[in-house]
Amino acid sequence: MSAIIEVKNVNKTFGKNENINHVLNGADMTVEEGEFVSLMGASGSGKSTLLYLIGGLDRSFEGNISVCGKDLGTLKDKELSDLRLKNMGFVFQFYNLVMNLNVEDNILLPQTINGKKKSELKESLNEILEITGLTEKRKAMPNTLSGGQQQRVAIARAVLGNPSIILADEPTGNLDTASSKEVMELFARLNKEKGLTILQVTHSEQCAEYGTRIVKLVDGKTVG
Ligand SMILES: Nc1ncnc2c1ncn2[C@@H]1O[C@H](COP(=O)(O)OP(=O)(O)O)[C@@H](O)[C@H]1O
Ligand SMILES: [Mg+2]
Repeated sequence: MSAIIEVKNVNKTFGKNENINHVLNGADMTVEEGEFVSLMGASGSGKSTLLYLIGGLDRSFEGNISVCGKDLGTLKDKELSDLRLKNMGFVFQFYNLVMNLNVEDNILLPQTINGKKKSELKESLNEILEITGLTEKRKAMPNTLSGGQQQRVAIARAVLGNPSIILADEPTGNLDTASSKEVMELFARLNKEKGLTILQVTHSEQCAEYGTRIVKLVDGKTVG
């Protein structure tokens, strides 16, 4: 196994002077290729902050973060956005679907926006619709879908670009138990069958158990 995410001695603060908030204080974490890691911790402990730093969505931090062997601190903006586009898929608590596009156009959007043709993506689209159980819903509009179905669209969208890593921030935070189970089973399947590395933030012990390992964030440091 080799490390696909490496976080070394990362410090992150918000604010200044008397209002400074030390959110991460020497956080260390390594995720090996093929792992499915659940990141847990109290509300406000810095889980989203850490996930966004790993995803290159926030570039201001001290320490070192490498993803797929690339040191995020040294990449140019363009190199970082390429790394994100090719290697990372993001899933959030709120699905961020485009309401006036149907299911398949939502799934295709990040790729078509970056210049890929719909025809080149046909096979991967069919495959991911099948895996996410959305084949019948491919022409449906998002507002006709349940929360769980909408989250599966967001996951399909994240996976279509064939990333190595999925970064998910409370992906079941807005879902009932049955839909949460569906989403976790889908992650477990993507992890096993496609070898996707998954790092998910979750509050739920049940959801965390679907992963292969739990890491806890306590006082700005990772434990476990
Ligand atoms: N953009 C921001 N500006 C200022 N403070 C922030 C910002 N984002 C997060 N924080 C603060 O950082 C801390 C950790 O937040 P967050 O990473 O969202 O926690 P978690 O996801 O574990 O609930 C909180 O105290 C939060 O208020
Ligand atoms: Mg959060």
